[in-house]
Amino acid sequence: MKKEEKNNIVEQQPSQQGRRPQGRPGGGGGGGPFGAMMRPAEKAKDFKGTLKRLIRFLKPQRTQMIIMIFFTVIMTAMAVYAPNLMRNIMNLLQLIIIGTAESDAQSLIIKYFIAIIVLYVLRFILETISYLIANYVSVSLGKSFRNILRDKLERLPIKYFDEKQTGDILSVFSNDVDVVVNSIQQSLIQMIQAFLMLIGVLGMMFFISWKLTVIALVILPLYVITVSMIAKKSQSKFIRQQKGLGKINGYIEEIFTSHKVVKLFGKEQDSYAEFKVMNEELAGDMKSAQFLSGLIHPVMDFISNIGYVAVVMVGGILAGATNPLLIGDITTFISYQRMFVNPILNLANIVNMFQSTIAGAERIFDLLDAKEEEMDKAVETFVNREHLSGVEIKNVDFSYSPDKELIKNLNLKVEPGNQIAIVGPTGAGKTTLVNLLMRFYEIDKGTITIDNVLNTEVPREELRKQFGMVLQDTWLFAGTIRENISYGKEDATLEDVISACKQAHVHHFIETLENGYDTLLKEDASNISQGQKQLLTIARAILFNPRILILDEATSSVDTRTEAYIQNAMNFMMEGRTSFVIAHRLSTIKKASTILVMEHGQIVEQGNHKDLLEKNGVYADLYNSQFLNIAT
Ligand SMILES: Nc1ncnc2c1ncn2[C@@H]1O[C@H](COP(=O)(O)OP(=O)(O)O)[C@@H](O)[C@H]1O
Ligand SMILES: [Mg+2]
Repeated sequence: MKKEEKNNIVEQQPSQQGRRPQGRPGGGGGGGPFGAMMRPAEKAKDFKGTLKRLIRFLKPQRTQMIIMIFFTVIMTAMAVYAPNLMRNIMNLLQLIIIGTAESDAQSLIIKYFIAIIVLYVLRFILETISYLIANYVSVSLGKSFRNILRDKLERLPIKYFDEKQTGDILSVFSNDVDVVVNSIQQSLIQMIQAFLMLIGVLGMMFFISWKLTVIALVILPLYVITVSMIAKKSQSKFIRQQKGLGKINGYIEEIFTSHKVVKLFGKEQDSYAEFKVMNEELAGDMKSAQFLSGLIHPVMDFISNIGYVAVVMVGGILAGATNPLLIGDITTFISYQRMFVNPILNLANIVNMFQSTIAGAERIFDLLDAKEEEMDKAVETFVNREHLSGVEIKNVDFSYSPDKELIKNLNLKVEPGNQIAIVGPTGAGKTTLVNLLMRFYEIDKGTITIDNVLNTEVPREELRKQFGMVLQDTWLFAGTIRENISYGKEDATLEDVISACKQAHVHHFIETLENGYDTLLKEDASNISQGQKQLLTIARAILFNPRILILDEATSSVDTRTEAYIQNAMNFMMEGRTSFVIAHRLSTIKKASTILVMEHGQIVEQGNHKDLLEKNGVYADLYNSQFLNIAT
């Protein structure tokens, strides 16, 4: 693997870690309720803009969201109020025990009990409903996100996929949509809850005793300062841990992909020593990251316990005052004190979660904003489909990226029914020429016409229907052999398929299979050989019956015997069709009407085999060297 790629992995790693739905405890250490806080949050480039856009996106779910928010408000109010009912009951019990209760105390207690039960039942119902709604919202949101993204992919030019890594696009579909969808309602509900809780609980604390409240609040700054200090330290350790993990991943991947090479050069020992150092470093960073995030719990417990002790002590003193605090007051106060700390801690978590939600949404929108393929003008069609096609390339310039010139002023005229062979070293631009014919990429200058029709004047789909392609990388999908062959021509009968297979010399092979044409191919078609796969794709092209045929190194990855078979099949297929054959074994193209020799994006020689040999130029060199290679 190249150096840059390795670095890429190192850099990607932290963000990918961050993409894991936060707030879910566990994984990679430092989990628990403080996990998200301990990890660095992912930041969106344009937080405000993305948030606004996301809100607009949520419009269809508005009603459900409002109901959810409404329920959340009620549920939070209930949660805040419930301990107060308990407090009343406890206070009444204390008064009954010491004998100073009013006569209706017992019936009051029963009323409070009923109120508590009603409260909890209501809460149960509301909670269930709001979960159901939340579920509905996230499922339908996820669905619409995926639909929109999928449609978008269809409209993106191939160039986009060249520039992006497949993994990144995939992760938008899986991770980002997931994170955004799940945490939109989660973080929304939690944020409202935390906020209301904070206010409500503080109010109740004041209501019970302002003096105790002041004491409880004194502890607060201690809390906040300690937590943020530890969190900061821990975040930097986690970043190091992620980098270390990325390094190890890159290393393992390299070992995997170059396993044989490492063995071949006897480098296992060096490589192992390198790994040991990396692993040692990672373990060290992990240890300190874990230690810090593990530390937070005991520290927080310690501080809050001191807070409780202080409250109980002062509460005890106040119990003897003129307007005494009762036991119910003090215990309930402590409950509130606990409830008060949680939302503060939660808020930090939620803010983090919210940030990665926005960052995920930003990546989704980035994909949605990517420049699309120019719309088809769709004015012309190829009228006479039976007629052979001529192709003309005029003054074409093209490069994949503006800073690297490739094809400059290319000219080529192909008469209908001619066979054009293209040869040249790797990287000469042979495949590029094919890409341009198929309009997988847009040319920068010049024109390409097929049957005197500009290829930009025909819908891409119509244009591509004129071509049949057989490439070096065979493309078969998980399905039966018959389905694979009739791909692109689904209405073909079994007779058509068989006839195509006969022409491709693959019929006998298929017959030997237990299930014949219904044999299932695996996803990577690993149950048949490379040559057989190639013959199947040729059968597919024959069945498709295109007017122009493109064979790009179709025989490069098969043995010479199979090649002879394939060659036969291809010769048959090329008959009466305009065809472009790219071959790296020159013996296979001698019969072509025109041979183009390409170098650095240019056609350097052009002519038939005999002429080019006589010319004694590049082609003659290539041919002689290959011939000699084969001979020896
Ligand atoms: N998708 C692409 N993006 C950027 N550069 C490319 C792409 N495909 C090919 N190239 C570059 O264009 C040049 C020609 O490539 P190609 O047409 O595939 O050569 P050939 O098929 O003759 O081996 C090479 O330098 C190659 O690196
Ligand atoms: Mg190529």
